[in-house]
Amino acid sequence: MRGLDGKVAVIAGGGGIGAETARRLASEGCNVMLGDIAIGPAEAAAAAITAEGGATCVAHAFDASDDASVKALVDAAIARFGRVDFMHANAADMVSIRSDTDALTIDLDVYDRTIQVNQRGYLSCTRHALPHLIANRGAIVYTSSSAAHMGEPERVAYAMTKAAANALMRHVASRWGKEGVRANSICPGMVLTQQIKEHIPQEFVDRVLLAHRSWRLGESEDIAAMVAMLFSKDGEWITGQVIAVDGGASIRP
Ligand SMILES: NC(=O)c1ccc[n+]([C@@H]2O[C@H](COP(=O)([O-])OP(=O)(O)OC[C@H]3O[C@@H](n4cnc5c(N)ncnc54)[C@H](O)[C@@H]3O)[C@@H](O)[C@H]2O)c1
Repeated sequence: MRGLDGKVAVIAGGGGIGAETARRLASEGCNVMLGDIAIGPAEAAAAAITAEGGATCVAHAFDASDDASVKALVDAAIARFGRVDFMHANAADMVSIRSDTDALTIDLDVYDRTIQVNQRGYLSCTRHALPHLIANRGAIVYTSSSAAHMGEPERVAYAMTKAAANALMRHVASRWGKEGVRANSICPGMVLTQQIKEHIPQEFVDRVLLAHRSWRLGESEDIAAMVAMLFSKDGEWITGQVIAVDGGASIRP
């Protein structure tokens, strides 16, 4: 893709989709600061990506719920690579989601934690990256979810945070578009990360596949490709959009 070589991305939240996005960006010549609260797997991913011979990927421990920690992640990218062109706000608390029920029964501590990581964390990613994105006419991509607009009967806090991500994205696209900053959200369908392959029963996966028009479920590479395109010069005229990468699970105007 055009315009990624020599650039620098911060990926805030590794794991399945984040690490694969780091791999794709590095293969396009873009250096990556890969942040995650689970530093062990992030370091292993960064070392493997760098060994593949593209650009450099470095891991950095951070907590999306802590604004100072998000700032330190961006500062680490500046210290290591000298610039930041792209931010991928991607971390989500996938532990709290297991107790994320409905509006009547959700434990308020679960609600608060979900908001703090998924929602306030995305605001922190935005505000600490923005000065650099403005300076470099860069871009930000938020990993959202179809949960933002589906009206699921459970996971109320998760859905609220993903709707908030889309609202934040539209705000950033509108407020800083004339200064060269682009912002977009991606709503993945079910992506079979290692975590999901290990923890979700096959019977559930088969049932979810029925709701997708594609013959298969998603892989992390599917999302990574869209992030790379949105960061690249090929995506220069795309901003303010909520983009489904979901094998046709949703069809919207
Ligand atoms: N996999 C899917 O099917 C799917 C579908 C829709 C949306 N998403 C979204 O994609 C994004 C990535 O999800 P994934 O499937 O790769 O999950 P994942 O669990 O593999 O990755 C999430 C990463 O976030 C990290 N994280 C959690 N809390 C953190 C914190 N406080 N600070 C920093 N890092 C933290 C985790 O350690 C993990 O590495 C999430 O925003 C998720 O909501 C995923």
